[in-house]
Amino acid sequence: MRPSTAALADAFHAALNAAEAYVGATAPNPPVGCVALDADGLVLACEAHQKAGAAHAEAAVIAACGRRGLNQRIHTLIVTLEPCNHAGRTPPCVEAILATPAKSVWIGARDPNPRVAGGGAGRLAAAGLEISFWHELDHSDASGLKQRADRLVAPFATWCALGRPWLTVKQAIAAGGGMIPPGGRGTFTSQSSLVLAHRLRRRADAIITGSGCILVDDPAFTVRHIADHAGKHRKLAILDRRRRTPRSYVEAAKARGFDVVIGSDLRGLLRELADAGVIEALVEAGPTVLAAFLEHDLWDEHVVIRQSPIPGDQDTVDVRARPAF
Ligand SMILES: NC(=O)c1ccc[n+]([C@@H]2O[C@H](COP(=O)([O-])OP(=O)(O)OC[C@H]3O[C@@H](n4cnc5c(N)ncnc54)[C@H](OP(=O)(O)O)[C@@H]3O)[C@@H](O)[C@H]2O)c1
Repeated sequence: MRPSTAALADAFHAALNAAEAYVGATAPNPPVGCVALDADGLVLACEAHQKAGAAHAEAAVIAACGRRGLNQRIHTLIVTLEPCNHAGRTPPCVEAILATPAKSVWIGARDPNPRVAGGGAGRLAAAGLEISFWHELDHSDASGLKQRADRLVAPFATWCALGRPWLTVKQAIAAGGGMIPPGGRGTFTSQSSLVLAHRLRRRADAIITGSGCILVDDPAFTVRHIADHAGKHRKLAILDRRRRTPRSYVEAAKARGFDVVIGSDLRGLLRELADAGVIEALVEAGPTVLAAFLEHDLWDEHVVIRQSPIPGDQDTVDVRARPAF
């Protein structure tokens, strides 16, 4: 017996859902989800990597099976990212897998870390396990599942390959065409756009802004319209060559839990953030800083929120994305 294609596809969905709940919580690691199936395709456990230093998804699944006395039933593991073959803060996942009776492993995305790419899959295959990649699954959802797995790991892949965080640039454009809210108002976007903006913050390890935005808006940059990850601390990176950011603003931002970094060189600031383990950053700034990012081609996702010219109508949202690595 082996799990049916339908059971594998359902398990892929579950593994992705588990991982997606932790997007923004795991830096400098990528979010990863894992499901263990028995030979009949029954789900034994489904877990995600929750934060750096905590168990990797595969180890968490195997531990959960162990707690339920199900370890000897593990037949197939479905994991969104290639299992690691190196000891970091936690032991290598391939060793944990090899200590189970698992016969096959399905992998979503290859590990983009050039130091370990291929190592995990190769080690498991050398030990006699059947290793497959999701795009090989004979199911109508296979390519969609693969895309979700690639997107999950894209910020980490960018950080590994380019030495800078994945950059989401958010821009709100008023019905009249400009980015400046009408006098006295902090925003002109609708409630659904506010929720979207807070979702983007939730998945970011740092917010990047400019001194102009701070001087005019005194923005909080906290996650409010949705629940944030428990215990998450973000960096707030402020581009400010003339040091106009008021000390009182910096102190208030620290009191809100931010680790504040002030920089004058855009690329230098990105390097500093990457070195500090920021794998995804959200650029929330006024038109001057925004233009600098776009002109230097420093973006991975450009989210444009356009206010409707008809009062009360929903904004439209366009997302321009670069292909993931
Ligand atoms: N619609 C939206 O999406 C949105 C979002 C945020 C803010 N806003 C609005 O934007 C307005 C403020 O606009 P803004 O353009 O002054 O704000 P900004 O783009 O946030 O900040 C501009 C400042 O950033 C500094 N900076 C540092 N490095 C830079 C670099 N490499 N390139 C460019 N600038 C750099 C510059 O000051 P130094 O020369 O001292 O370095 C510059 O004056 C406010 O009215 C606010 O409400 C709109």
